[in-house]
Amino acid sequence: MSIDRTLHPAHTLRGEVITPGDKSISHRSIMFGALAEGTTRVSGFLTGEDNLSTLRAFQAMGIAIHQRAPGELEIEGRGLDGLQEPSDVIDCGNSGTTMRLMSGLLAGQTFFSVLTGDQYLRRRPMKRVVTPLAAMGARIWGRRGGELAPLAIQGTQLTPISYVSPLASAQVKSAVLLAGLYAEGETTVREPHLSRDHSERMLTWFGADVRPFPGGVTVAGRPRLVARDMLIPGDISSATFFLVAGLITPGAELLLRNVGLNPSRSGAIEILRAMGGELELLNEREQSGEPVADIVVRHSRLKGIEIGGEVVPRAIDEFPVLSVAAALAEGTTTIRDAEELRVKETDRIAAMASELSKLGAAVEPTADGMIIHGRERLQGGVVSSHGDHRIAMSCAIASLVAAGPVTIGDTACTETSFPGFWELLERIRA
Ligand code: S3P
Repeated sequence: MSIDRTLHPAHTLRGEVITPGDKSISHRSIMFGALAEGTTRVSGFLTGEDNLSTLRAFQAMGIAIHQRAPGELEIEGRGLDGLQEPSDVIDCGNSGTTMRLMSGLLAGQTFFSVLTGDQYLRRRPMKRVVTPLAAMGARIWGRRGGELAPLAIQGTQLTPISYVSPLASAQVKSAVLLAGLYAEGETTVREPHLSRDHSERMLTWFGADVRPFPGGVTVAGRPRLVARDMLIPGDISSATFFLVAGLITPGAELLLRNVGLNPSRSGAIEILRAMGGELELLNEREQSGEPVADIVVRHSRLKGIEIGGEVVPRAIDEFPVLSVAAALAEGTTTIRDAEELRVKETDRIAAMASELSKLGAAVEPTADGMIIHGRERLQGGVVSSHGDHRIAMSCAIASLVAAGPVTIGDTACTETSFPGFWELLERIRA
């Protein structure tokens, strides 16, 4: 169902934001919890649509998962060889993480399975995982020679690999590492820059032998994974919408609680600080192997900067809302090396260039990024989410400082990663 919403400019913003659970870690808590022996108790689980796709997939493979309270799960792990053949096609919905990580996991099973997804996911590239998995002996078929889902996977005995990934992609890295759990011997993945390392940290937390080294990581096959309790930190990708909201709205001051600050995820903090954003970290601590802090954000005068290189994968999901910050900064911001944005839930370079332009911003899309000339204010207008949660929420943040109302088409997609987003945005308006 398409739900349109009209948002009015904000006078200012005040209050506290409890950051919802990390989407990437929530996916992995189910996957690794299912492969561990014993009951894993998870708190802070994100009940967004993407994570529910992963949850239902594991239930379909015979894993009992109980929700004790909102965000509190118990996963009854059955060990590395405990999954059962699903009796139907597995629907990954909009979730690239579910489809790509599960491809690696399913490749090493003893059974047959099929993965599909929604109209957006069925357009996204899958060869990036199918190619290294095939080199391990995996038997995977998909449309266009394995590029597009649905993917049909006949599990088989895998052999270890040393793979040099052309992409800094945690989904590719994790798919190979998950397959590597089922191969006898050591599987290594190298990547051009470090992508998010949650799989490595969590596999270690559950008892696997995982050895990161500069430029890559090695996992030993056939580990015994043991259930562990987990407290999932808040998702920095969700927090960044409110960091940008606080920075661009005159007079704003917000306290964001429980933000995960894993260095392989915290590029947006570095970028916003380099733009002149005032962000204060409080109460820095560690939670289930992940660094966490609270963040105070205050309205700041932002300036344009150059963004490219190794920081890009560490901020990859934040570029839609970072482009909103850049549209309101003094001077020009150039984003390079971010061609991966073109194959996310939608083409996020094209989508943000077109939607921000409708609000009066000066944005030129380039092959691998954007050139954004900052303006004092944006204007009201009618924009579209393109069915992409992060585009919808980025448009909502832009509307806070538009001169008139902004109507956003098709906003139900925010359920993918941020249930409660609209209510929260309403609550902090002062
Ligand atoms: C994710 C990895 C990233 C990110 C996605 C979640 C993950 O994708 O964009 O939202 O959980 O591993 P890539 O690995 O394709 O860059």
